[in-house]
Amino acid sequence: MARCAWRRAELEMAPPVLTVAQHGAVGAVALNNPPVNALSHPLRLALLDALSNLYADPAVQAIAVWCEGRTFIAGADIREFGKPALLPDLPDVVEFLDRAPKPVVAAIHGTALGGGLELALACHFRIAAADAKLGLPEVTLGLLPGAGGTQRLPRLIGVRASLEMIIGGVPVPAHQALSLGLVDGVFEGDAKAAALAFAERAIAEKLPVRRVSELCARLDEPLVFEEYEEKLAREWRGFLAPFRCLRAVRAAVELPFDEGLKRERQLFSELMASSESKAQRHAFFAEREVAKVPGLPENTPARPVRSAAVVGEGATAREVAQCFADAQLPVTVLAETADALDRCLYAIREHYTSGVARGQWSRAEADVRLALIRPALSYEELASADILIEAGAEELDAKREVFARLDKVGKPSAIFATSAGSVDVDALAAATRRPEAVVAMHFASPPDRKKLLENVRGGSTGADVFATVMKLGKTLGKVAVPVRGSVAERLLARSSREAYLLLEEGASREELDRAFQEFGFRQAPFASLGLAAVDAGSPQPQELGVRRGKISADEILERCIYAVINEAALALEGGVVARPLDVDLIWIHGHDFPVYRGGPLFFADQVGLRTIYDAILEYQRRFGGQHWSPAPLLERLVEEGRGFYAQAR
Ligand code: 3HC
Repeated sequence: MARCAWRRAELEMAPPVLTVAQHGAVGAVALNNPPVNALSHPLRLALLDALSNLYADPAVQAIAVWCEGRTFIAGADIREFGKPALLPDLPDVVEFLDRAPKPVVAAIHGTALGGGLELALACHFRIAAADAKLGLPEVTLGLLPGAGGTQRLPRLIGVRASLEMIIGGVPVPAHQALSLGLVDGVFEGDAKAAALAFAERAIAEKLPVRRVSELCARLDEPLVFEEYEEKLAREWRGFLAPFRCLRAVRAAVELPFDEGLKRERQLFSELMASSESKAQRHAFFAEREVAKVPGLPENTPARPVRSAAVVGEGATAREVAQCFADAQLPVTVLAETADALDRCLYAIREHYTSGVARGQWSRAEADVRLALIRPALSYEELASADILIEAGAEELDAKREVFARLDKVGKPSAIFATSAGSVDVDALAAATRRPEAVVAMHFASPPDRKKLLENVRGGSTGADVFATVMKLGKTLGKVAVPVRGSVAERLLARSSREAYLLLEEGASREELDRAFQEFGFRQAPFASLGLAAVDAGSPQPQELGVRRGKISADEILERCIYAVINEAALALEGGVVARPLDVDLIWIHGHDFPVYRGGPLFFADQVGLRTIYDAILEYQRRFGGQHWSPAPLLERLVEEGRGFYAQAR
């Protein structure tokens, strides 16, 4: 390929992201671009160069591709998105692979995701390690598979299964990929050995080149697109990408391959430029960045957590115990009385049984989780747990008593946590002889639907202890956010108070719900609270001189969301939370803020801080300064013409 010559100089400068070797008649290409073998520009250049050499070499009769490191390719390099295109782009490389004049096999271990799976789909054969996963998660970034995935997948596994994978975005395990026809075999052990063995077999058996692009995408179920249209309208309101995914797959059925590719490209570019995708990509990086705790060195050693104990018998204790069992970690539940323990275990069994009925997990999986939960009636039975979590006592004094008892039985390396977010961690720490071991882990409720875990660091919490609970959050499948006090509760209280006042001023409950749903919330964040009980000490609209009347949806949203933004600015300034991204993740994963709006502070930057500031001043004029005073940080950012993240517009 001509392009390869003019890229050679650049290639020599690039880090060694792949190696090429010859094993007999097999050209062997090993990709090595840590941490996840993303298809970054240097790798694309190197791959194109390696392939064109192997295509031209008459001694090479088949090509084997695999990855070094922990995984096969995790996709296009997301860090390149939104920047000027660097050629060759990924579709160029994928199409070049498709046209290989000799058989190419890809051996997948770890995860083949997005562009990684698309590259594998352009190979003529694919095999996967037994524990590998394959998926097209672009939809979670507000995108669609843009390197031929929407055109090749339906040709290989059919329309319905493709829609499930592309719109669902959930990777499938290797055995399922095999039964779908997505891979040609499953192997145990080393990807390199498996790739070479398959390529040698392809030569020995003269297996022909089999291009997925030459297959036909048949529409076996004529109404499947209509069915999906209805489903999307119901379940994906506000999102853009799932709808474009549907259109792209439809093109695979209705258009010749090359035309379908063009349509895919056009839809991909449209999504790439959309505000929805920008926000979802922001959330993706925020979810990774959040683990890097300011002031906590990245190499801080974490204590091992192989087992846990939970003290309490109410809903929180149950839910926390279930989180551990769901993550395959044994957990002991301690209650004060046998009756209370029975009630707690009964509720846990009910939870897993109803999950079986809903198809959330199989009976066998439910039994495995249940078996990991061990009942206890004495503190001594908690002695071997690596982390002991208080999840029940109401009053601070009662909590301090529990901590003192935990301190007596816990082993030297044990960590002591409370599940309460707004409790004074230092007061609990003072009840023990090892304050450095004390921390709070506040799980958003219900934890099986919400991924937020606020890890609250006290004044004396040890660095290793905090590193441990941050790491544990990932093990539990949570988005763990470091805070100095529950920000989720604080922000919720602020927006709930505003909702309460809106109701008092004449807005109806339905109007509030509708406004929030239009904005993209599944339900208003305070829907689970009894609003009459919210902030009993709030000033009454009479007191504030406000007349009841019609309130617009815009005002409802502004008051509930701008109040949160202002409160978040106060929390940032006070050091309760360190970064805007922490706030965004707290509201996305704790209170269902629509991810395609990127979180309240990302959203604030899009609206413009000046607009928000002016609105707050207007509400201050109408309602007084007690609750409507712009946070000093907000004021400063506006004066400096900046946003929370970037330059304000
Ligand atoms: N591009 C660039 N960087 C990536 C990346 C990607 N596709 N995927 C992961 N990374 C980075 C992360 O940002 C993180 O960087 P950091 O250490 O500097 O914070 C590092 O790799 C490790 O990632 P994780 O912490 O997420 O590691 P895990 O082991 O927990 O998970 C993973 C690994 C399952 C591969 C997960 O990272 C993941 O889901 N990645 C994204 C996969 C994806 O969405 N692929 C589609 C990309 S879009 C695409 O391909 C478009 C194409 O159709 C044209």
